[in-house]
Amino acid sequence: MSESTERLGQVHLIDLPQIHDPRGDLTPIEGGRQVPFEIARVYYVYNVPVDAHRGGHAHRAFQEVIVALSGSFRVAVDDGFGRDEYWLRDPRKGLYIGRMVWRELDSFSQGAVSMVLASHRYDESDYYREYNEFLRDAVSDT
Ligand code: TYD
Repeated sequence: MSESTERLGQVHLIDLPQIHDPRGDLTPIEGGRQVPFEIARVYYVYNVPVDAHRGGHAHRAFQEVIVALSGSFRVAVDDGFGRDEYWLRDPRKGLYIGRMVWRELDSFSQGAVSMVLASHRYDESDYYREYNEFLRDAVSDT
């Protein structure tokens, strides 16, 4: 991971709506409204061991929004020039991650559930899974 810590241009938190009700709260998310892309895919990660490390990749073109539906976890992000970290624990917050951002997820609480909204259907060819390959392209991509 890169050395300096700063807010990255391609990563930010999104405030999601909360419809509060004595029967329970509801958060709607529409593609192109609360998230800046049409949602092509949703996946969620659960039954995560508390010492698990997930992520460890970047995307050439895909954008994603990560929401902690339950529990909490850390998301470390790195655009090749700087790095930052977010602790997700509030289902009213979405973490937008744009293209060319390396992400690593860890420090999962017991029972944490991560939901990811993605701009494209699954395609392994959009992934960087080798950090050095990502870094080489990230620094020459400006
Ligand atoms: P991976 O992207 O490494 O998960 P994470 O970023 O949460 O650590 O994906 C794990 C496996 O699941 C890998 O074999 C690819 C597969 N996969 C799909 O088949 N479809 C999907 O939409 C996703 C996200 C992953």
